[in-house]
Amino acid sequence: VCDSGDFATIDKYRPQDATTNPSLILAASKKEEYQKLIDAAVQYGKKHGKNIDDQVDATLDNLLVQFGKEILQIVPGKVSTEVDARFSFDTEASVTKALHIIDLYKEVGIDKERILIKIASTWEGIKAAQILQSKHGINTNLTLMFSLVQAIAAAEAGAFLISPFVGRILDWHKAATKKEYSASEDPGVKSVQAIFNYYKKYDYKTIVMGASFRSIGEITELAGCDYLTIAPNLLEQLYNSKDDVPKKLDASSASSLDIERKSYID
Ligand code: E4P
Repeated sequence: VCDSGDFATIDKYRPQDATTNPSLILAASKKEEYQKLIDAAVQYGKKHGKNIDDQVDATLDNLLVQFGKEILQIVPGKVSTEVDARFSFDTEASVTKALHIIDLYKEVGIDKERILIKIASTWEGIKAAQILQSKHGINTNLTLMFSLVQAIAAAEAGAFLISPFVGRILDWHKAATKKEYSASEDPGVKSVQAIFNYYKKYDYKTIVMGASFRSIGEITELAGCDYLTIAPNLLEQLYNSKDDVPKKLDASSASSLDIERKSYID
């Protein structure tokens, strides 16, 4: 999976799926060739907006969808479109925004099966994912995930996919301890390993997609994970390294691991 909003890069690597977030879209939007998408989004905002805030909202939503639509012409699978972080602690607002994004995609001829609504893994976000999946058949990507606790709740909520972060955990540990970590000792890598093993041991179908990488060492430590979403600079490094990457995560051996079962959602 390619973690980028840049069409040329996505086209170069031809991944199965793509993930975006508002910063990636913003970074990509600065390029001249994206101007027509931005203009279309602004026009949409003017047409549908009631006041300036609504107009900005409508423009941003439309911009996300315009980008998603373009990306879906390149990738055969799914694109993740993120619900604004302002709604991360509001289940109802997250559900409303997600339904709106799905409607906008429908207006441009894209079926909900090709979209993952990306929502922060707060308690409210996980509840929103549960509602979207069970009542509306909308698949979610629970992102900003930093712990096994969040991952267990997400699986119990029936989320389609989770994005446990690696690099941000490493960033915090490095800042707190002033130490360097090898890839095999990386606390972000260990977090994803623990989540993967828990899911496989207890047979959860939610897809585990490692995200937020800082080095190719972190990526190769997680070879064998269901999915990994990788930024273009690291994809380039992996491509150039040409080393064989042995599988390090193995679903079949998880059943023999001693992992305590927990539950967070009724
Ligand atoms: C993936 O879905 C995330 O958007 C991304 O990997 C975040 O990475 P960062 O920690 O580098 O922002």
